[in-house]
Amino acid sequence: MPRSLGAAGHSFQTPRVAQGGSLFLPMLRLPGLIDPHVHLRDPGAVHKEDWDSGTAAALAGGFTTVLAMPNTRPPIFDEATLNLSLDSARQKARCDYAQFLGAGPANAATAASLAPRAAGLKMYLDATFGDLRLDDMLLWQAHFRNWPADMPIVVHAESRSMAAAILLAAIHDRSVHIAHVSLKEEILLIKAARERGLRVTCEVAPHHLFLTDDSAGEGLLRGHPGRSEVRPRLARRVDVAALWENLDVIDCFATDHAPHTLEEKDSAEPPPGFPGLETALPLFLTAVHEGRLTMEQITEKCHTNPRRLFNLPAQPETWIEVDPDAGYEIRAADQHTRCGWTPYEGWKVRGRLRRVVLRGREVFKDGELSASPGTGRNVRSPG
Ligand code: DOR
Ligand code: ZN
Repeated sequence: MPRSLGAAGHSFQTPRVAQGGSLFLPMLRLPGLIDPHVHLRDPGAVHKEDWDSGTAAALAGGFTTVLAMPNTRPPIFDEATLNLSLDSARQKARCDYAQFLGAGPANAATAASLAPRAAGLKMYLDATFGDLRLDDMLLWQAHFRNWPADMPIVVHAESRSMAAAILLAAIHDRSVHIAHVSLKEEILLIKAARERGLRVTCEVAPHHLFLTDDSAGEGLLRGHPGRSEVRPRLARRVDVAALWENLDVIDCFATDHAPHTLEEKDSAEPPPGFPGLETALPLFLTAVHEGRLTMEQITEKCHTNPRRLFNLPAQPETWIEVDPDAGYEIRAADQHTRCGWTPYEGWKVRGRLRRVVLRGREVFKDGELSASPGTGRNVRSPG
């Protein structure tokens, strides 16, 4: 009989003893994970990812829903570009999805009409990959004013820009979600803002929990400075420690899956970002094994909270099964992302995804994907 672990929604299956007396270790069942922050490069850079390979990577990482960022080429900022991405997703996606709209210099008046079809509005207030950065604070205000209050706004806003974003949300009497928090000063400011009743939520990426600015000297990153480029940058140990100490302030884990090829990472102008969809869950399960995280926290931050914050529908008959004791070594060669590498190459992890069931169909089992391109659903599409 499955033993429930409470409201978090996952359960143990009781260990069974096989005929020769050996023990089958208990499998854990969790709801399908939701990644509210991925970059799939489709349209514009499908040599490193597209809706097919990116959603294959998602399922192979235990994610049954992904929310795609708009800094593609062209960026997704109006009806034509939204259709471009969604048409591609409809043909290729293997898991469920939605597409963010980017806040640009000229779409503050028109973006709201597309809100029902979008995952939310993404605002880039600081420099990163792509051309979507907004410098003009009057434009920030226009977007905050116009975007529907019941639809998510996600900001890439580091340090002082993050403080400004929280102020604008308060002035416009709406919520704001801070992407990829990485610094002690950020997590403490969010905590303080929440204690004052401000409606601010946040997510943290695995690389800001498992890597530090020292990591640039290790493993695959050693001797290749471009490979450790990411925005926000890898932070100091004191920042990473503050994130772990304030897990209760972190609403969601989000991979910020940002695939670039090693050739690009090793070039004179290395683009920032790491692939993350296939390594997040084993890293979190390893942290559970080490006593730094609980299974309930994984469920809460990778399912319950993102589902609520981004108004996502339930996925009936959808779950993932993990073997919490299986140890293995992370290898890019086993991954489905097209970018062909991982900053965690050779890391020994404990806890392995065994099976994914999406809407009643087995779509992943022991490393093999069986979901066809086009079977994923747009969660913002009626019917
Ligand atoms: O490192 C990053 N890469 N940070 C971002 O905000 C964007 C992303 C990308 O698209 O490559
Ligand atoms: Zn991102």
